[in-house]
Amino acid sequence: MTNDNLQIAIDGPAASGKSTVARMVADRLNAFYLNTGEMYRTITWALMNKGITDFENDETLSDFLASSDLRYSLNDQDDLVLFLDDEVVDINEVRQPEVTANVSLVAKRPLIRQWMLERQRSCAKLGLLVAEGRDIGTVVFPNARWKLFVTATPMERARRRLAQSSEVEAGITLEELAKQIADRDRIDETREVSPLKPAEDSIIVDTTGLSIEEVLDKIAGIVK
Ligand code: CDP
Repeated sequence: MTNDNLQIAIDGPAASGKSTVARMVADRLNAFYLNTGEMYRTITWALMNKGITDFENDETLSDFLASSDLRYSLNDQDDLVLFLDDEVVDINEVRQPEVTANVSLVAKRPLIRQWMLERQRSCAKLGLLVAEGRDIGTVVFPNARWKLFVTATPMERARRRLAQSSEVEAGITLEELAKQIADRDRIDETREVSPLKPAEDSIIVDTTGLSIEEVLDKIAGIVK
């Protein structure tokens, strides 16, 4: 595994605000930004497009993975852009609620996680990397220079996600959304392979009640 202490790992549960934070930290440090949730979402979206909904069938998954290519490549602005089979992934598509409803069921499959791991680790060769997800500090980059676990109370997370209207079903209530998020957290936290949990040496960043600027200041105090 490539590891020169050049990774900043940002993990945390659904809608904790870690994407916003990770992207801004990457900007400030002039680092590459890797969003591993988008990789799981893309594979889920692609499976659904092929009409595959039995995510428990390893043979089907394995055939699908063997004929699929998912990778991050640099664009002209030196940003990492996600490609699926030579097409740039439309992030809005993969963040739709229909995909969100299935992504944890796909992400818990060991076959899928193993396939992702090589693709995520290969980004380390680029240099300073801010990588976010659920298992970055625990599994993908266990030797990362900094490990943050970004979280907030379930209600605050549900409120934040509700404000991202394109990512939720029209008319959904805060309570329904909080339940969906709690269900996804539970699947992510209890799966057998690389469950969502803070790495032993991670720093917990509770963003409840904090603005983005306050969160960034907090993180700037940690990542110097
Ligand atoms: O943005 P949001 O918090 O809703 O989720 P995301 O970061 O886009 O991740 C979507 C899903 O992908 C998670 O709920 C996990 O099931 C899965 N995931 C994972 O298992 N491991 C990662 N490193 C990243 C995401």
